[in-house]
Amino acid sequence: MEFKVGVIAGDGIGPEITSQAVKVLDKVADVYGHKFDYTDILMGGASIDACGVPLTDEAIATARSCDSVLMGSIGGNTSTSPWYKLEPSKRPEAGLLGLRKALGLFANLRPAVLYDELKGACPLKEEISDKGFDMLIMRELTGGLYFGERKTVTENGEQKAIDTLTYTETEIRRIAKRGFEAAMKRRKKVTSVDKANVLDSSRLWRKVVNEVSKDFPEVELEHMLVDNCAMQIVRDPAQFDVILTENMFGDILSDEASMVTGSIGMLSSASLNETKLGVYEPSHGSAPDIAGMDIANPIATILSAAMMLRYSFDLEKEADAVDAAVKKVLKDGYRTIDIMSEGKSQVGCRQMGDLIAERITR
Ligand code: IPM
Ligand code: MG
Repeated sequence: MEFKVGVIAGDGIGPEITSQAVKVLDKVADVYGHKFDYTDILMGGASIDACGVPLTDEAIATARSCDSVLMGSIGGNTSTSPWYKLEPSKRPEAGLLGLRKALGLFANLRPAVLYDELKGACPLKEEISDKGFDMLIMRELTGGLYFGERKTVTENGEQKAIDTLTYTETEIRRIAKRGFEAAMKRRKKVTSVDKANVLDSSRLWRKVVNEVSKDFPEVELEHMLVDNCAMQIVRDPAQFDVILTENMFGDILSDEASMVTGSIGMLSSASLNETKLGVYEPSHGSAPDIAGMDIANPIATILSAAMMLRYSFDLEKEADAVDAAVKKVLKDGYRTIDIMSEGKSQVGCRQMGDLIAERITR
């Protein structure tokens, strides 16, 4: 089959990690007889430098014309990069938020899995890491604090900043449905995370999630407050299957969940809408401090490409082959510096891409 893949290389380590994912996709194409046509799309700092804004209408139109979009990472050093002297709506991150909104990517899937081979890199006590864990964070991505009205005003001689957290029933229902659907394909448990002891938006969240759960009688539903959830992720991560949560909580909890897997360099993500078009990106940032040094871990981006094969192209076997190649490379003892441990072979970004591509088989 033939697919048009938009590629947002982005900033920092973005270009080097996306090249590795493209290398792996090309190997998949070879081995399974597909064709991927790539189209570069500018976004973030790269787009600011070339076009003066972090996301152009043309970039959005190109993304829409693709079957799916693979992304590296965007943004620079927030203290030193000139991009952060621009007003907030012109900075790199605004490009990413603009793309999510323009494409209606309301469902953000962030799997956090502890690989057997990386148990040593898990910062938790052995009695916890020994149990392993495999959770999927289903994060709402186009609502809440990120997209509510915001402003800074001067009142009584001092500045006052206002951000608003809004959710409609429709927004909650559609993401809840995705959470339950995902759980049906996994271990059939949903933990819905909110702050219903304080926030109205969370009380509505809980009510709608309870309603949606009636359509999924096989799925066990529990509600958990976000502060407790943050604690449970380090106390007993094995208890989680699908964590269903709103935008901001999902942002924070997914960084926490990724860290307990040993490295944020291992976490993939998919941002989906009602169609097959999705944006696939690692959960980590652009790591400008190590950009261009060929030491970044490309695995999260490669696993994101695997999610693209699975969710946008329905190429299950091919996606499994990429996941298996990543496991194999870890089993064979290869590590980038972020997941390096004694007795293993340290490799750079490019070599990690080669080693994974070599392990793609039918
Ligand atoms: C993420 C990132 C973004 C977010 C930033 C770059 C705007 O942290 O994808 O988790 O907060 O959503
Ligand atoms: Mg984040």
